[in-house]
Amino acid sequence: MPVSPQSYTRIVYAQPTKGLIDVKTFRAEEVPFDLKPGADEVVVRIDYLSLDPAMRLWINDGDNEFNYTAPVQVGQTMRGIGLATVIEAGENSGFSVGDHVSGTVGVTEYNTVKASTLTKIDLSERSQLLDFIGPLGHPGITAYIGLFDIGQIKAGETLVVSGAAGAVGSLVCQLGKDKGAKVYGTVGSAEKCKYLEEDVGVVKALNYKSPTFREDFVREFGKIDVFFDNVGGEILDFALTRLNMHARVVLCGSISSYTSEAVPFKNFSHVFFHRARVEGFSLIDQGHRFADARAYLAEKVAQGALKSKYHILEGIEEVPMAINMLFRGENNGKLVVKIAHD
Ligand SMILES: NC(=O)c1ccc[n+]([C@@H]2O[C@H](COP(=O)([O-])OP(=O)(O)OC[C@H]3O[C@@H](n4cnc5c(N)ncnc54)[C@H](OP(=O)(O)O)[C@@H]3O)[C@@H](O)[C@H]2O)c1
Repeated sequence: MPVSPQSYTRIVYAQPTKGLIDVKTFRAEEVPFDLKPGADEVVVRIDYLSLDPAMRLWINDGDNEFNYTAPVQVGQTMRGIGLATVIEAGENSGFSVGDHVSGTVGVTEYNTVKASTLTKIDLSERSQLLDFIGPLGHPGITAYIGLFDIGQIKAGETLVVSGAAGAVGSLVCQLGKDKGAKVYGTVGSAEKCKYLEEDVGVVKALNYKSPTFREDFVREFGKIDVFFDNVGGEILDFALTRLNMHARVVLCGSISSYTSEAVPFKNFSHVFFHRARVEGFSLIDQGHRFADARAYLAEKVAQGALKSKYHILEGIEEVPMAINMLFRGENNGKLVVKIAHD
């Protein structure tokens, strides 16, 4: 059974930043362990934290147009999604000591969390714990809703995914392939192209940093039925010139503009010419779809049709600077930090 320590470390938002996180943006604080659950709360030990591009948005000013959820305030513990173990359960929480849970647990080693915001993890399926911040967690649900509900992908269609080797992107590629689509991806390195073609099984992956990227895109990908966009900016603008009639453009994320100015669009008229649909979505509006998504994804994981690669760092102090890895393309797979030392 997990036991409470004398003290624990949490990462506090210390100072606003422009662009990437710097050494002053966050501070690590060691505090005495005095956590007690209310009746509808649990005290959890955090086991793994998911590092997400949205963490950079969560510390933007409230006025920032990108901030789709309340910003974290200076002095508060940083928000973070993770996997945790219940070490004390309030009487009405519905959880027991030792339960594995996922949810917004904070960038901290221990926390008190409202039970209603947590999901109990059932490890009975053919899955490992980390899958609950991978294909069975928010990246998987994002891929499912974006590709099926918004993208309406069909067998035989051409699917192009940007940010294709990342947590969400690699799952979109696999779900698309499993549906019978012809899947292509764009990524930032030759190594990621190789991973996508050899391990994920896309037809062709292209490095957007190559000087011949645009010609290669036209030659290799042909015209697009569904463009699943994780990155925004110039890649999205160019992809708009390659749409088939009635194409769907799924705006999942726009990581190229989270730490720098967004680029102006030149090609939006192609949406009209091709009677295409462009639709953004956010998981925060999609709670009603989670159960269906989880059931589908669990079946695919059990069949071995959906795999995830994890890039694992260790220690809570690593979290602040590691967020930058997402913006430099330095993560090879879903970026996670192991927190609990067992
Ligand atoms: N809509 C939703 O509800 C929802 C939910 C979760 C995530 N998202 C979004 O989904 C996207 C992917 O998130 P993730 O967690 O799966 O991250 P990820 O893809 O695992 O990591 C981010 C990747 O973005 C790429 N990237 C960074 N800067 C770039 C740039 N300027 N241009 C092109 N590519 C760039 C890098 O890959 P390369 O090496 O290929 O450049 C990097 O590895 C993000 O935009 C995120 O905000 C949306």
